[in-house]
Amino acid sequence: SRSYSVSSVFDFASNLFPLSSTAAGYSALGDPSSRPLDLNGASLEKHKSLTYLNGLSLIVGLIIGSGIFSSPAQVNINAGSYGASLVVWTVAGVLAWTGAASYAELGGAIPLNGGAQVYLSKIFGEWAGFLFTWCAVFVLKPGSAAIVAIIFGEYVVRAAVGADAENASTWINKGVAVAGMALVVILNCISTKLGTRMGDVFMFFKFLALSGITITGIVVAVTGFTWHGQPNTDWKTTGWFDGTSTDPSNWAVALYAGLWAFDGWDNTNYVVGEFLYPHRDLPRVIPTAMPLVILSYLLASIAYIFVLPVSVIQSSNTIAVQFGFVVFGRVGSLVLAIIVAGSCFGALNATTFTSGRLVYTAGKEGLLPGLLGHIGMPGMGEPTNRLQRKSWARKAVTRLIGDDEGGFGFTPINAMVFNAILTAAYIIIGEFGTLITFYGVAGYTFYFVTVLGLIILRIREPYLERPYRTWISTPVIFCCVSLFLLSRAIFAKPEQTVIVVAFVAAGVPVYFWRVKGKGGRRKGEEGSWKIWRRWERWRRGVE
Ligand code: ARG
Repeated sequence: SRSYSVSSVFDFASNLFPLSSTAAGYSALGDPSSRPLDLNGASLEKHKSLTYLNGLSLIVGLIIGSGIFSSPAQVNINAGSYGASLVVWTVAGVLAWTGAASYAELGGAIPLNGGAQVYLSKIFGEWAGFLFTWCAVFVLKPGSAAIVAIIFGEYVVRAAVGADAENASTWINKGVAVAGMALVVILNCISTKLGTRMGDVFMFFKFLALSGITITGIVVAVTGFTWHGQPNTDWKTTGWFDGTSTDPSNWAVALYAGLWAFDGWDNTNYVVGEFLYPHRDLPRVIPTAMPLVILSYLLASIAYIFVLPVSVIQSSNTIAVQFGFVVFGRVGSLVLAIIVAGSCFGALNATTFTSGRLVYTAGKEGLLPGLLGHIGMPGMGEPTNRLQRKSWARKAVTRLIGDDEGGFGFTPINAMVFNAILTAAYIIIGEFGTLITFYGVAGYTFYFVTVLGLIILRIREPYLERPYRTWISTPVIFCCVSLFLLSRAIFAKPEQTVIVVAFVAAGVPVYFWRVKGKGGRRKGEEGSWKIWRRWERWRRGVE
């Protein structure tokens, strides 16, 4: 079922040879930014196309999704006061930042597609990488996409029918969610550039929306003007730390809600292999993206506080729409509903892009059926003859978006469709409570283990080339806080934790079948990080 016939070892050798024999090739080898290595014949990494801006819009577009427009209620109720909720937002943001910075170090040192999958394989062994892939492919990625898609559906319906949306059938919401997901997948299958360009547009749109909310909030606070109802004075009359919760489990719940809004910070790591200059750009993306997101979330939260009474902040799941309504009436709530829907759509776009790469890598590595590691559609892959180069679809896409690699040619179509089908299934089943807890427990377990792996790697391989190094305190802080969060979740929802453990354990036999047994790899094939490491050592003259 594999798509290529030459063993990876042969690929490895044949890649080295032509390069080391020419002067140009030699200098290309010396330049760490261009790595002509072939990973089991992987072709996405050969068509590197991501720039700094793409990376930035990818991660910002993924992080800013539904959370800041809907989860403030959870944060506020559990933190207990204005001040405490702002503290929670800050802590959640900084925690996400420490995580992202740790991942950036790993991604710089091991610039391969697949994220934690390759880091865990390298650090703990392939079984760990497999179990991560198992969870991420089947639950974490499609589950989180489903949540964002459902919120997208709700807001589209809200924008379409206004206040009647409360009565609309959930099936309409779900239908719109599935349709949105389908649209995103089709666009992303057509061309990588189309997907990333959409991401760029959405990034600016989101910053615009959040700055709009902030400015509106400040204007309202200063002038006291609102279209509807009394100007809110709660923030002047109550102390900002009155009522702050003293119960650690409340803080943990608030933190989880905040972390959902910041989640997705690991996603550039899934596509590191496609960056043109991973060494330079990955460590730049994180320190720009994270402070920008933290700042805009804090400002938006303050704007909400200025405009909305405490009772509304603490009870509304659609805080942004309430905000629009209070300030600008019906039109305001309509505009904000559209903004939130757009924001979710952008997040869906970004998450589809990275999920596709995750599934694709897993297919390439033999962890999943090899079919998923295919690029393009039959007959529309790399143009090998004139006929293919002239195919109508390729021409149309070239015309439309100036992407000469477009036309269903260079995107992991099978992988993205597979992910979309799983997402649609989760949208339809829609067991939210379970999904979110699963996401929290399993997701943070893997984050924790991966960042712990960074520390282990520092000790075990101190001389590994790390183009970017965080302070050692960064992973340590991340590990401590995520351990606290995990322990809280495990004690609060033991039965859900059992589900997570059972699911992870179910991956073990699959691992033996796919990786150790006859199911996946052919004899002689290896995980990409092994091939890469050998290449890397050769490049540096170790072997
Ligand atoms: N932070 C996003 C939001 O506020 C959710 C990201 C979901 N995570 C993911 N890996 N797709 O909606």
